[in-house]
Amino acid sequence: MLDVRDVTVRFGGVVALDSLSAQFTHPVSGVIGPNGAGKTTLMNVISGFVAAQTGSVQQDGQNLLSIAPHRRAHWGLRRSFQKEEIAEDLSVFDNVLVQLDHGRGKGRMDEVMHVLDLVGLADRAQQSAATLNTFERRLTDIAKCMVGSPRLIMFDEPGGSLSVEETHTLGELILRIHAETGAQTLVIDHDVDLIRRICSETLVLDFGKRIAFGPTDEVLNDAKVKAAYLGTEEV
Ligand SMILES: Nc1ncnc2c1ncn2[C@@H]1O[C@H](COP(=O)(O)OP(=O)(O)OP(=O)(O)O)[C@@H](O)[C@H]1O
Ligand SMILES: [Mg+2]
Repeated sequence: MLDVRDVTVRFGGVVALDSLSAQFTHPVSGVIGPNGAGKTTLMNVISGFVAAQTGSVQQDGQNLLSIAPHRRAHWGLRRSFQKEEIAEDLSVFDNVLVQLDHGRGKGRMDEVMHVLDLVGLADRAQQSAATLNTFERRLTDIAKCMVGSPRLIMFDEPGGSLSVEETHTLGELILRIHAETGAQTLVIDHDVDLIRRICSETLVLDFGKRIAFGPTDEVLNDAKVKAAYLGTEEV
């Protein structure tokens, strides 16, 4: 379980997260909300890019905010960004390999090949990452998040600028993460169809506040949620 409790983040006069609490208990949970709602800020707090003024984020009895940001990956935290972080001059294989700690010999190679196989990039392993298209870069991001015993994986708009078919494949992969690695996953996306399909519970943010949280279908039918989205997109 991922327990976000009373998290507040202010940037000058902007309250990006306002005493936010939510307990995520499902393998794959969604975070949605209009532009500027605070979704990425939540991921930034959990990963350590942004310091919260108040609150805690616990998983498995560990307060993540008390771990130094650079040690959170070692603990098992993984994330993707709104723009993929791929090293162009490395092979696809090496992009995934660098996510692993040193010293596990052949096991590390096998693990990297296993996840590349899972995401469908095994035959591209030795190619330069510069040759990948947007979808393949997104798949590489997923592979990077899956190696090295992750506990918590966060994807920030993984479906952005993908086709309907590509988004479908991506969703199927995200659904396999828990069974393959044991990690819990948080997904931010503006694609409500993707969220509805892969997230059994969803948090809705607006102006840094939780306006709804619970089973995704119930949340998407909530009048407050529909009002928050009015004029921006269809729910
Ligand atoms: N580093 C920062 N410095 C100042 N203000 C920031 C910073 N990061 C975010 N904000 C502000 O905090 C608020 C929440 O931003 P955030 O990026 O979390 O929104 P979001 O829900 O991810 O939006 P989007 O859907 O557009 O990605 C916005 O008002 C934003 O301008
Ligand atoms: Mg964002």
